[in-house]
Amino acid sequence: MIVVRGGRPLSGRVRISGAKNAVLPAIVASLLTDEPLILKRVPRLLDVETQLALIEALGKRVEREGDVITIRGEAGVATAPREIVSRMRASFLCLGPLLARLGEAHVPLPGGCVIGARPVDLHLAGLARLGADIRVDEGVVHAAGALHGGEVWLRYPSVGATEQLLLAGATIPEEVEIVNPAREPEVMDLVRLLVAMGAEVKALEDRFIVRGGRLGEAEHAVIPDRIEAGTYLLAGTITGGEAELADVHPEHLTALLAKLEECGAEVEVSGDRVRAAAPRGWRGIEVETAPYPGFPTDLQPQLTAFLSLARGRSIIWERVFESRFGHVGELIRMGARITLQGQAIAVEGVEELRGTEVAATDIRAGAALVLAGVAARGVTRIRGVEHLRRGYENMEEKLARLGAKVWVEEASVT
Ligand code: UD1
Repeated sequence: MIVVRGGRPLSGRVRISGAKNAVLPAIVASLLTDEPLILKRVPRLLDVETQLALIEALGKRVEREGDVITIRGEAGVATAPREIVSRMRASFLCLGPLLARLGEAHVPLPGGCVIGARPVDLHLAGLARLGADIRVDEGVVHAAGALHGGEVWLRYPSVGATEQLLLAGATIPEEVEIVNPAREPEVMDLVRLLVAMGAEVKALEDRFIVRGGRLGEAEHAVIPDRIEAGTYLLAGTITGGEAELADVHPEHLTALLAKLEECGAEVEVSGDRVRAAAPRGWRGIEVETAPYPGFPTDLQPQLTAFLSLARGRSIIWERVFESRFGHVGELIRMGARITLQGQAIAVEGVEELRGTEVAATDIRAGAALVLAGVAARGVTRIRGVEHLRRGYENMEEKLARLGAKVWVEEASVT
C-alpha cells in the first residue's frame, strides 16, 4: 500500500509523462504493419507492460530504451490470450487490427477498471457494418471476413469504439466514415499516428473519414498525459499550496483549469507549463463530466477529493460512466461529507480530512485517495497500490518533488 503523511501545503514542479490512453492504442497500431514502429515518450506503467505483452503474444517483438520503444515483426497469431485481455480493457482494441490483417480474430471480452457496465457493443456493431462476421461464444468474440468501406454512426462518442474503427479503417482502401466520433486528445493522437503510417484521415465537424491501405513504418511521440497533469495540479491545490507542471499541452486541460478558476484558484499558463495555486477557502461548484472538451470523467474522483475541502456545497454529475463512485465511501471514511444521489454526488465542504486506512478500487479512485491523503491530518494508508501503478509513472517520486511525504509499505495480511 501507498502511505501518505499529509496536512502541509505542497509546492513544486513536476514533469508530465506520455499519456497512458494515447500510448495503449498506439501500441496496438503496430499490428497494422510489418514495418518498424518507433514510439517515443512511452511511460513506464503496468498497463503499458500489459499491452506490450499482448502484442508479443500476437507475434511482435519489442525493444525498449529509456522512454522509446521499437516494435517490429509480423503479427501471425489471431487469438488474444484471455489472461492478458482480462487485465485491461484497452487490449480489446486488437480485435479490428487482427481481423483486418489476418481475416480472423478471437479476442475475449475485456476486463479493466470496475467503473460501470462498459460494454463493447459499439465496437462490434461498427466492425459488423464494415463487413465483419461477429459471433460471441463463451465470453470470446470471434470475428471473420474481409472488411470494406461504409458509414458507422456511434450513438455515443465512445473513445474505444472510435479507436477500434480508426484502426480497422486504416487498412481498408475504401472510405470509412465514423459519424459522431470521440475527439479526445488521445483519439486525435492515434489519428496523427495512423496518418504518419500512411492512412488518410479527414476530421470533419461531425465525422472522421478514413481511407487506408498498406501502412508503413513510423516514428511517433506520444502526447503528454492530461489526466496525470490534472491529478498533480489538484495535488498541489488540495493542500492549499501549488503545483507547476512542465511538458504539458495546456489546451488539453481547459475544462479543469476553468473549474479551478471558478473555485477561486489561481491559474497561470505559459507555453508548455501550467501552474495552479489555491489558498484555503476555495468555493464549491457544479461539475458535469462529458466527452472532450467537457470535464473528463478520469478527473472526477480527484476533483471530488478537492471539492470535499471547499467552502460550501458542490454537485458533481457523472455522465460518462454510471457507477464511477468507488472513491466516495473511502473519502467519507476520511471525514468527507458526500451523499450519492443516482448519477450525482453532493459534497458539503468540510474543514479537514483525517488520515485512515482506505482502499483503491481503480486507478483514478486511488489517485483521489492519494490527494485526500496529502491534504489530510495524519497518515493515510491506501491499499491497492497496483491500481496506481497501472496509470501513474513514478508517482511517489513526483509527489515527493511537490514536497509530499509518501512511501510504499507491504500491506499486512488481515
Ligand atoms: C476510455 C479511457 C478511459 C476514459 C474513457 C472516457 C482508454 C484506455 N480509456 O475508455 O480512461 O474514462 O475513455 O473518457 O482510453 N460504451 C458503450 N458501448 C461501447 C463502448 C462504450 O455503451 O461499445 C459506453 C461505456 O459504457 C461508457 C461510455 O460509453 O458509459 C464511454 O466509454 P468509452 O468512451 O468507450 O470509454 P473507454 O474507451 O472504455
